[in-house]
Amino acid sequence: MTLYERITALHGHRPWGAVLDAGTGRASMRWLLGLETERWTAITGAPTMAEQTRAEISDRMREQDRLIVGNWADPALLEGERYDVVLADYLLGAIEGFAPYWQDRLFARLRPLVGKRLYMIGLDPYVHGVPDSPAGRLVNEIGRLRDACLLLAGEQPYREYPLDWSLRHLEGAGFRIVDAQTLPIGYRERFVNSQLDLCMTAVGKLRDRRLAPPLLAHIADLRTRALSHIAGQGALQHGHDYIVVAEPA
Ligand SMILES: C[S@@+](CC[C@H](N)C(=O)[O-])C[C@H]1O[C@@H](n2cnc3c(N)ncnc32)[C@H](O)[C@@H]1O
Repeated sequence: MTLYERITALHGHRPWGAVLDAGTGRASMRWLLGLETERWTAITGAPTMAEQTRAEISDRMREQDRLIVGNWADPALLEGERYDVVLADYLLGAIEGFAPYWQDRLFARLRPLVGKRLYMIGLDPYVHGVPDSPAGRLVNEIGRLRDACLLLAGEQPYREYPLDWSLRHLEGAGFRIVDAQTLPIGYRERFVNSQLDLCMTAVGKLRDRRLAPPLLAHIADLRTRALSHIAGQGALQHGHDYIVVAEPA
């Protein structure tokens, strides 16, 4: 069951009414378009993400639906509006790229927009500590290398937060927690290749070209180790996604 299917199940027979996708993208839009909504608004901070989302929507946008490029740090964005359901799909982790150090304000910012329910999807951070298992260490190494390459290239990595951080800040922002679920992750080839390809793109942007050869060799070595682990033992089982269901307190 995907995270979105879980949310649909958690919503049960309640009507969807007006829905806000507070951090949109192709996947959440695909899910949103399959729901019986009265209207929807989808927000992204990135024009490129808006284009990809528009491609997913194609001709399925109704007159009452809106796709907006904006920033939640802007108090005027959707000011005075209210939605029955708000989805914050991997939005918290991405905030660092659009409104750095503003994560503690996010839920309070969304609170007045939530008429009935907030569904939040988050990813437990995997770049801290040293995991016990070989699979966990590989995921951790990939995450650390990706973030290091992005920082060296002058870009901003995402910053994920654990479930207890999110629960604390949701309650502090005036939400009541209705449910929270964790879903274990098995990372496959697509994760390994996409994250290490990101590293290679970042290395391509480094001004000091002397850094490139050892970094590229390290990326290739990590790719080989991770892919051969997956080929031999299956997906890299490590960490979890989480879903929080919250309502205005
Ligand atoms: C990781 S993506 C979410 C995944 C997406 N729902 C999907 O289907 O793939 C994070 C989204 O949150 C948006 N975002 C992050 N910080 C934001 C901010 N401060 N204001 C508005 N949008 C923001 C990003 O632009 C992006 O659309």
